Amino acid sequence: MKERQVEHHDGWASRIGLILAVASGAIGLGNFLRFPGQAVQNGGGAFMVPYITSFLILGIPVCLAEWTMGRMGGKHGHSTPFIFREYLKGFPLKLSGTIGVMIPVMIYVYYVFIESWCLAYAYYFLTGQMSLDGSTQSEMTQQASTFFMHLTGAWANGSSFQSPIIVFFLICVLFNFLLVYRGLSKGLEAFAKIAMPMMGICATIILIRVLTIPGIESGLAVMWNPDWSKLTQPKVWISAAGQIFFSLSTGFGIALVFSSFLKKKDDVVLSSLSSASLNEFAEVVFGGMITIPVAFLFLGMQATSFGTFGMGFIALPSVFGMMPGGAFFGGLWFLVLFLAAITSSVTMLQPGILFLEEGFHLGRRKSSLILFLFTLCLCLPIIYFNKDFAALDIADFYIGTIMIYVLASIQIFIFVFKIGVEKGVKDASEGSLIPFPKSIQFVLKYITPWFLLFIFVSFCYMNLPEYLDKMNPEVMGSLAEIKGESVEDAKTKAIIARSVVIGLVLIYGFIYVLVSKALDHRKEKVVT
Ligand code: ALA
Repeated sequence: MKERQVEHHDGWASRIGLILAVASGAIGLGNFLRFPGQAVQNGGGAFMVPYITSFLILGIPVCLAEWTMGRMGGKHGHSTPFIFREYLKGFPLKLSGTIGVMIPVMIYVYYVFIESWCLAYAYYFLTGQMSLDGSTQSEMTQQASTFFMHLTGAWANGSSFQSPIIVFFLICVLFNFLLVYRGLSKGLEAFAKIAMPMMGICATIILIRVLTIPGIESGLAVMWNPDWSKLTQPKVWISAAGQIFFSLSTGFGIALVFSSFLKKKDDVVLSSLSSASLNEFAEVVFGGMITIPVAFLFLGMQATSFGTFGMGFIALPSVFGMMPGGAFFGGLWFLVLFLAAITSSVTMLQPGILFLEEGFHLGRRKSSLILFLFTLCLCLPIIYFNKDFAALDIADFYIGTIMIYVLASIQIFIFVFKIGVEKGVKDASEGSLIPFPKSIQFVLKYITPWFLLFIFVSFCYMNLPEYLDKMNPEVMGSLAEIKGESVEDAKTKAIIARSVVIGLVLIYGFIYVLVSKALDHRKEKVVT
């Protein structure tokens, strides 16, 4: 069969541009919202022990493997199913390729909705419409909570469609697709080169403001005063590993796709380590030293009860409301969050676009339009069924936790057992500006695969029964009755959970068919 060759004129304009693009994709809401929420719920400073351990034995090895495998597989194409052709074939190739296409697109589907909350808050703060005028701190928090629940439609299913959030959501979606449409170097890379320094400057201004608040030491102490007893709880270790994956965007298949544009002479070791380190710096310094100290200083131990969204969208806004100059600092903070989120969501769309272009020989305009319509249709139920964030939470659990683990594990198992660590390291070392760290080679060979397996099995063991119950209306109804909560609400949530899971299975099946067609249609073709 004669094949048409898809030429990719896209790619990276410079190495620093690639590092910034990958880092800006990694630095996102995970750093500024999820990390503080996780740290507070899992022992404060003590959380840093499993967190740093996970960074060293999971995060760094998976990043290095992902970049190396992307560059090695890039000769087959630039989307996950084609990149994986270097290592797999037949059914395993189709199964893994499907996950690689599905994960980033599906994360985008719920992530962009949260992104629109950040844009809305930035707008309301900067235009002075976010004025909380309670006289006591609990009145302020109450007002901030009511505002948040109404804006996001979290108080009743369907109410988000009558809220201005829909306008912010559409702006975000259009902005994302505009950047995608412009291509990697002119869109994402060019935007990241402006957004990253802007984020850094704005976040530094806020950090200085926060560190000069009288009495902030007591807030900082919470973050850095460890509750060591938490370290004996497996849940804390599992949460730390999940945070590392989400935050670094490892297991999303994004770095795999981005590095597939690199040639043998291009560095992967220093680039992957630099982007991972930039992400960690932003997470610990800005995520850990702004949200947590401020929330604890103003709200005391009550801050622990807010959860991730509550900390970001209720606790902090009420704190900004009490602070002199709060409208400016609040606006700046949510602008940072919005920039962090949009640079991440744009990266999530790239693997899907590249798959449509390569697999079906579509141009950028058609592939963008198809992905735009596809993701929009999937966003709508997430936005509609937002009472208590039901659809969003369940989608995040299955995609943002379970599926990314699976893809990260697939990559590590391929790197260690199929390619072999020695060969993988030799390949990674070509063109690299620094040597592949010996300690990471050891960790990759003897620790990472088994630690991944262990974490995954314990995670499923501990969480799956609870999540299976969450899909059972009868069980949830009875539980609600015992707790004196609304039985009807509990049953609706269980039906939503079940529908999300069925929906994900159907979407996987649909993408599987597309991936199979694309792979069969475009037989082995090596692009040099
Ligand atoms: N890594 C991205 C974040 O932290 C998804 O938000």
